Amino acid sequence: MRDRTPCSALNPELIGDDVTLAGWVHRRRDHGGLIFIDLRDRSGVAQVVFNPNLAPEAHAAAEQFRAEWVVKVTGRVEKRPPGTENPRLATGAVELHASQVDTLNPSKTPPFDVSDDQAVDEGLRLSHRYLDLRRGPMQRNILLRHKVIKFIRDYLDERGFAEIETPILIKSTPEGARDYLVPSRLQHGSFYALPQSPQQLKQLLMVSGFEKYFQIARCFRDEDLRADRQPEFTQLDLEMSFVDEEDILGLIEDLYVRIVEALAPEKSLVKPFPRLDYLEAMSRYGTDKPDLRFGMELADLTAMEAESGFQVFRSAAEAGGLIKGFAAPGCAGYSRRQLDQLTAYVRSRGAKGLVAIALEEGPPDLASLTMESIRSSAARRLDIEEVKAMAAAMGASPGDLMLIVAGPGAEVNNALSHLRNLMAERLDLADPNVLAFAWIVNFPLLEWKPDEGRWDAPHNPFSSPKDGDAGLLDTEPGKAIAKQYDMVCNGYEVGGGSVRNHKRETQEKILSLMGHSQEAMQSQFGQLLNALDYGAPPHGGIAMGLDRLMMLLANAASIREVMAFPKTQSAVDMLFGAPSPVDDSHLKELGLRLLRP
Ligand code: AMO
Repeated sequence: MRDRTPCSALNPELIGDDVTLAGWVHRRRDHGGLIFIDLRDRSGVAQVVFNPNLAPEAHAAAEQFRAEWVVKVTGRVEKRPPGTENPRLATGAVELHASQVDTLNPSKTPPFDVSDDQAVDEGLRLSHRYLDLRRGPMQRNILLRHKVIKFIRDYLDERGFAEIETPILIKSTPEGARDYLVPSRLQHGSFYALPQSPQQLKQLLMVSGFEKYFQIARCFRDEDLRADRQPEFTQLDLEMSFVDEEDILGLIEDLYVRIVEALAPEKSLVKPFPRLDYLEAMSRYGTDKPDLRFGMELADLTAMEAESGFQVFRSAAEAGGLIKGFAAPGCAGYSRRQLDQLTAYVRSRGAKGLVAIALEEGPPDLASLTMESIRSSAARRLDIEEVKAMAAAMGASPGDLMLIVAGPGAEVNNALSHLRNLMAERLDLADPNVLAFAWIVNFPLLEWKPDEGRWDAPHNPFSSPKDGDAGLLDTEPGKAIAKQYDMVCNGYEVGGGSVRNHKRETQEKILSLMGHSQEAMQSQFGQLLNALDYGAPPHGGIAMGLDRLMMLLANAASIREVMAFPKTQSAVDMLFGAPSPVDDSHLKELGLRLLRP
């Protein structure tokens, strides 16, 4: 439509002009003869007035209009009568007086109201995603996503990066999740895997001499889904040659600061991004993806409680476990029922139980605490000096609730890190307009898996040891620190990467510590190992989870809100109905037969 004006362009400067709008009927109101239509297109909403005296035919047509009909309207832009302006609308000072209309396409009544932002059942939204995407917040999220990706492309292009596509049908690249497999028609019994990430491919591109690669890359992982996990998701994947950790961290930090400043200026962030050692993050927050928008740091009480009269504490310490806790401010008044809920919560997160100690209001400070002002089911087994010492370690004051978990270290940290986030949510401590970015650095290169009797790489097996730590691979592999970094924000891991092993020898040593035989190494990693023999430059990179970034920028509760066509928690595409059975003939062609239960 050559003569079409965007709805959002109606403004007082156009008063007296004839224009044509086209879009969807957002709302319709009949006002004693006059019909008002809010007409919506991608740019915004404009008010159109149909007057039976001035344009009887157009008015008669508008009487039929219903929500979501697609119409084209021509008319004159007029100032709204005094007192009827709508300051909430960008076009609210003017309206279009229709003289002519065309119904381009009527619409059935949608299963939910597209014109407001009210909560709608997610199943209904996903099965009618094309309508859900018409709604204001979804339009904003998806268009913001476009802007962020364009910003990234421009930024990296200006700095000499080349965007290079890598294949989607590849061989399984172990990244810790299950692969999606694609059967081969031409070689029955053989399968492609969809890439969990382009990790090995981008390293090969460094061996090929591209030096600065990036890709807005689709990745596929068959894992249990959560609000921040989808079976297919998008990474900003990046790799550079002749760099060390600081080059990558500096580049990505600068990019992310600029994205936020340019495209989400209402958000605040702390520059430079703080850096935390992995061990420090685990100790202070119980997780390597802490939410740094609030305090409630965990205190390690293990040493001071090792000799406690309280059996639960003493036996955890004796078994080599941890006793940790934090103070929830102002929560001393929690009821029995509320405490039971918290206990059930930490149990659902793997802990055996929760010790809650309420420091009732009254005493002016910790020093004047007495047993009378302490409320806890463990009170009879604790003495006042013990309680004071724990309170001091946690920074608790009268009025606070101390929440303590004892047991094996991993269990304690996991339960408390989740409980800390839950309490922050309850107490409204996490400001949605703050983006608390941070780097987590100095991860161990390898972790011992006692059940499997081998070492494992906590992130990926391609990370190189810190300068000077390579020797530890022969003596104490568990002590080697990796050139590995994660970016976290508001409790989410939003990216991660490392400087890689560009020498075959080190790479093979790590893979063999992880339990790979020479044969297995060659079959899974042969393409990369062989390439390292031909002048592989030192290189490193990172992959940033773009869906998670978008979720944070858009204040969304899940990454499904920032993806056009996401899948449900059970990995179902409700719009197309995928996954779905296929014909036997199709299976036969692929050389497959189903096992029927
Ligand atoms: P990693 O596996 O840490 O690293 O992934 C990088 C980032 O991708 C995001 N992410 C996800 N987002 C949504 N749904 C998922 N299922 C999902 N899984 C991961 C996270 C994560 O931080 N090749 C390495 C990177 C490298 O070393 O360069 C890799 O893929 O934000």
